[in-house]
Amino acid sequence: MESLTEHPHLFLGASPDSREIAVLLLGYGALAFLAFLGIAGAAVFLTRRYAAKPGDDDSFREAQDEDKFETKFTVGVVLLICLIGYFGLTTTWKIDVDRDQQNLDPDLVIVGHQWWWEIRYPGSSAVTANIAHIPKGKRLLVALESADVIHDWWVSGLGRKMDAIPGRTNYFYLEADEVGTFEGACNEFCGMQHAWMRIKVVSHEQADYEAWLAAQAKDALPPETAAAQKGSVHFQEMSCAGCHSIRGTEATATIGPDLTHLASRSTLLSGKMEYSRENLRKWLHDPQAEKPGAHMPRFIFTETELDELTDYLDGLK
Ligand code: CUA
Repeated sequence: MESLTEHPHLFLGASPDSREIAVLLLGYGALAFLAFLGIAGAAVFLTRRYAAKPGDDDSFREAQDEDKFETKFTVGVVLLICLIGYFGLTTTWKIDVDRDQQNLDPDLVIVGHQWWWEIRYPGSSAVTANIAHIPKGKRLLVALESADVIHDWWVSGLGRKMDAIPGRTNYFYLEADEVGTFEGACNEFCGMQHAWMRIKVVSHEQADYEAWLAAQAKDALPPETAAAQKGSVHFQEMSCAGCHSIRGTEATATIGPDLTHLASRSTLLSGKMEYSRENLRKWLHDPQAEKPGAHMPRFIFTETELDELTDYLDGLK
């Protein structure tokens, strides 16, 4: 699995929004450092200046009042807070989606589920899970929704966080300046497998993206071997089709991830496992052992049925 450290622009990220946020963070750091110097300096200066000496009376209190020190200090703190607020707001305004843009058709629809992400590509029948593919250099409008509880989308290398809230749609921009893989995770505690609700965003050159999208929009490949053929029957008969879609077949349910091109993905279980035939078989054998709490129940298959089902799903490239 690619790791975050392989990305060369970890701090600034690779989008206009991530740079805005990085600059804001640096600015806040600088302000906090200046405030620290001011307060620490004042503490040293004042304790020296007003330190009680033998024979002192209370007259120093009057001197302090005459300085109106408290007033100046309070005004200084209020100004500092206003400055922090100003920078925060201007950054928010720069990266926020305008209200009038929110009525436009989104480029991507992302839905948070316990515990995976559904990614739809309006205008295409492609539906993927956990790995969002995008063309590089495009400012994409994303509509973010939730199917159950509050989740939170965050791919820090590409900008802001955004909550996925049941019953409403939130909008944000997703953009990557360069080709690459960017990792993120759900950032709102959403139940048992919150930690395994990872995200990958893969950005491509426009032509590669279009080729990818065209391939994903196609119906599933039919099973090629006799075993896979039997596996497809198990899929329909053993309740798999009650939750999952495989486009081009009778399975059209949308509770679990769309599996039309399952075997083209690089990971399984929201990034918990690398995709491989062996891992897929482990998952099908006992989902609760691999991802406890996941909404996929354990179905009892014989070893042969399990092989056939795995063959079928592993053929869905
Ligand atoms: Cu979804 Cu945490």
